Amino acid sequence: MHNRFDPTLTPGRSGTASMKWDGRKTKFGQEVLPLWVADMDFPAPPCVSRAIQERAEHPIYGYPFFSSEVKRAVCQWYENWHGWHVAMDQVSIMRGVVPALYTAVSALSNPGDGVIVMTPVYPHLLKAVEAHGRRLFASSLLETEQGYQVNWPELEKMMPRARLLLLCSPHNPVGRVWSQTELAYLIKLARQHDVVIVSDEVHGDLAYPSMGPHRPLGSLPGTETGVMTLLSAGKSFNIAGLELAIGVTTDAKLKRRFDEALRIGGLSEANLFALVAAEAGWRGAAPWLRELVDYLADTAQWLKGALHSAVPEIGYEPPEFGYLAWLDCRECGLDDSELQHRMVNVAGLGLNSGIDFGPGGEGFMRLNFGTSRSILMEAISRLQKAFERQDLGFQ
Ligand SMILES: Cc1ncc(COP(=O)(O)O)c(C=O)c1O
Repeated sequence: MHNRFDPTLTPGRSGTASMKWDGRKTKFGQEVLPLWVADMDFPAPPCVSRAIQERAEHPIYGYPFFSSEVKRAVCQWYENWHGWHVAMDQVSIMRGVVPALYTAVSALSNPGDGVIVMTPVYPHLLKAVEAHGRRLFASSLLETEQGYQVNWPELEKMMPRARLLLLCSPHNPVGRVWSQTELAYLIKLARQHDVVIVSDEVHGDLAYPSMGPHRPLGSLPGTETGVMTLLSAGKSFNIAGLELAIGVTTDAKLKRRFDEALRIGGLSEANLFALVAAEAGWRGAAPWLRELVDYLADTAQWLKGALHSAVPEIGYEPPEFGYLAWLDCRECGLDDSELQHRMVNVAGLGLNSGIDFGPGGEGFMRLNFGTSRSILMEAISRLQKAFERQDLGFQ
C-alpha cells in the first residue's frame, strides 16, 4: 500500500533521541522491535514540520507567548473536529497532559481524599493519585461480549466517598470510546455526589468515525461546573515530544484553582516549538488527520485477521480509536513475567505489560500498531514463532 504511511517513505527513528527506539535497550535489555510507548513511527503533517522549520530559521528562541491567535486556532479545531464550541477564556495552556493530571490531583483534592480511576488504565492516572497521598478507588472495567464496560454498581458505591474522578476518554489501553449515554450517566452520578471529573482526552482526535464520535466531556450538558477536559495535539499530529496540553472548563472557580496550581508548579507555559507546531496542525492538518485515522482504523481491522491466523490463542478486538491494541494473552498459560520474558527474549518484541495498567491488566499486553505494516508483519511472524503451540506445551 503506497501512501504517506508507507515504510519506504518514512524515515527510520534510531538515533533521533526517540524513547521508543533509542530507549528500547534500556527498557527491555535488548534491541527489540519496539511496539511500546504511545507515539507513531509516521512523520508529523507536512504543515507542522514546515512551521517548525520556518520558526527555527529565526535564531532567537526566547520565552513564547500563548497568543489569541493560538487560542483561536484551538477553539476553531474543537469546533470543526468535534462540533464543540469552546470560548477562548475557557482555555488554559500547560506543559503536557501528564503534568496536568498530577496538578489536578493536588489542586482539586486533599490528602486522604478518595479519587476514582477505572482500570486497567494509562499508568499516570494511578500514579498521580498515589504520588499525592490520595486514596485510590480503583474500579475495574467489566469485560463483556460488547467489550469493556463501566462497572456502574461499583462506581455508584464509590461516588459518595470520593472527591475526584480521573477519566480516560477515550480509554487507553482497552480501546473504548465512551458513548454519550455512558458519559451522561457518569456526569449525573458525579453531580449527585459533588465529585469533580478531570477527563484525559489525549487520544480524542483519533476516534474512528465508524465507531461513533468521541464526545469531549466538557461538550455535554451538566458539565458547566466541576469538569475539566484535558486536550492535546500530541497524539493527533504525533508531536508528543514537544510537550503541550490544553485544559478547558466553563467553571471559573475550578479554572482559577487549576491555573494557580499549574503556575506554582511552573507548568503554566508551553514550549515555543510546541506552540508553533500545534497551531500549524490545528489550522492546517485536518485532511492529514482524516487520512491517518482511516489508515489506523484499517490497520486495527487488518491486525485482527493477521493475529488470529498466526496466533489464535491471543485474543484481540480492534480498538475504537488510535493505535493501541490490547492483547489478551491469558490463553497462553504464562504468568505476567513469563509472558514478558517470552515477548522480549523469544519473540524479540517490546510491548507494554498489561500489569503496568493496574488491576485487570494481568495476562494482557499492549501493542502499539502506529507503525508500518511491514514492521507489524515482522512482529506477527515473530509472535507466531515464539508462541507455537508445542512451545506452550499444548500438543
Ligand atoms: C491516556 C494518556 N494520557 C496522557 C498521555 C501523555 O500525555 P502528555 O504527553 O501530554 O503528557 C498519554 C500518552 O500515552 C496517554 O495515553
